[in-house]
Amino acid sequence: MAAIFTKAPGKIILFGEHAVVYGQPAIAIPVTRVNATASIVPEIQAEPGLVRIHAPDIQLNAELSTLAENHPLGSAVRLTMEWLKPEDIPSFTLQVTSTIPIASGMGSSAAIAVAIIRAVSDFLGSPLSAQDVSSLAFEVERIQHGTPSGIDNHVIAYQQPLVFQQGKPHQLLKIDQPTHWIIADSGESTPTRETVAAVRSLFDQEPEYIQPLFDSIGAIARDAKDALINGNLPRLGMLLNQNHALLKQVKVSSTRLDQLVQAALDAGAVGAKLSGGGRGGNIIALVSPEQVETVSTSLLKAGAVNIITTLLTGNEIP
Ligand code: MEV
Repeated sequence: MAAIFTKAPGKIILFGEHAVVYGQPAIAIPVTRVNATASIVPEIQAEPGLVRIHAPDIQLNAELSTLAENHPLGSAVRLTMEWLKPEDIPSFTLQVTSTIPIASGMGSSAAIAVAIIRAVSDFLGSPLSAQDVSSLAFEVERIQHGTPSGIDNHVIAYQQPLVFQQGKPHQLLKIDQPTHWIIADSGESTPTRETVAAVRSLFDQEPEYIQPLFDSIGAIARDAKDALINGNLPRLGMLLNQNHALLKQVKVSSTRLDQLVQAALDAGAVGAKLSGGGRGGNIIALVSPEQVETVSTSLLKAGAVNIITTLLTGNEIP
């Protein structure tokens, strides 16, 4: 059996986070500058079925059978095997690494799950479709995050910009006009599980306050779809700023995120907002090509600990 190597990108949400958990549409894009990788090497000498997982980033080097049922890496391997039901499981070592910042809204857990599911299914000789990879990654996400919407596993498994809405087929976006985005890491992080739970308790306490905010965020995401395809910067900028203001009202921003958003706008960004679960993690800023340098420098001066720039084009399809 040959060795296998797979890769899955990070992601950012451009519009609609949190509201997407409550049935609203949201737009996400893959970010290929960062990724999770999984490689599998067959262990011909070992007894059949012996699976070892090595993840140096988190100091893990263990046999699958010793990991808890809900272990994120272990559950990605187990769920893939349960899905494929291979007659024999040859012994193998799975190595996992990732350059995607953890708990910062860039989809690191979904990307790791996607890379593992692809590697294991390829290794077992039954490569899975993007749809099946996404469904399995969603199960892994559910074990980790409780109530994920499914947007992360979708955009990462398909590796294309898309509109996602629960209960509806996703729409892949064919971008006509490229746009430049800056992703700035605040250096603070809160696990998405926690921000999603905090929003849930706010929603349960004050549905009449939160529901209209979600409705407005959904309307923004619908509106942004065409503006994104056509590269309509003024419209996108306005929608980004409005989306950030609504996320503040949903109480998932932070002083630091607000400062970074303001720094991007002051430096000439067309629009900016937090991206992902919030209360830390990243902000995104939309910029014209001439502004990439200036806005990036200002964000670093304002305290961003890392900057990733990405060009959203129609050629993301691998
Ligand atoms: C996380 O990337 C986006 C959230 O909307 C959670 C989810 O959709 O599962 C905050």
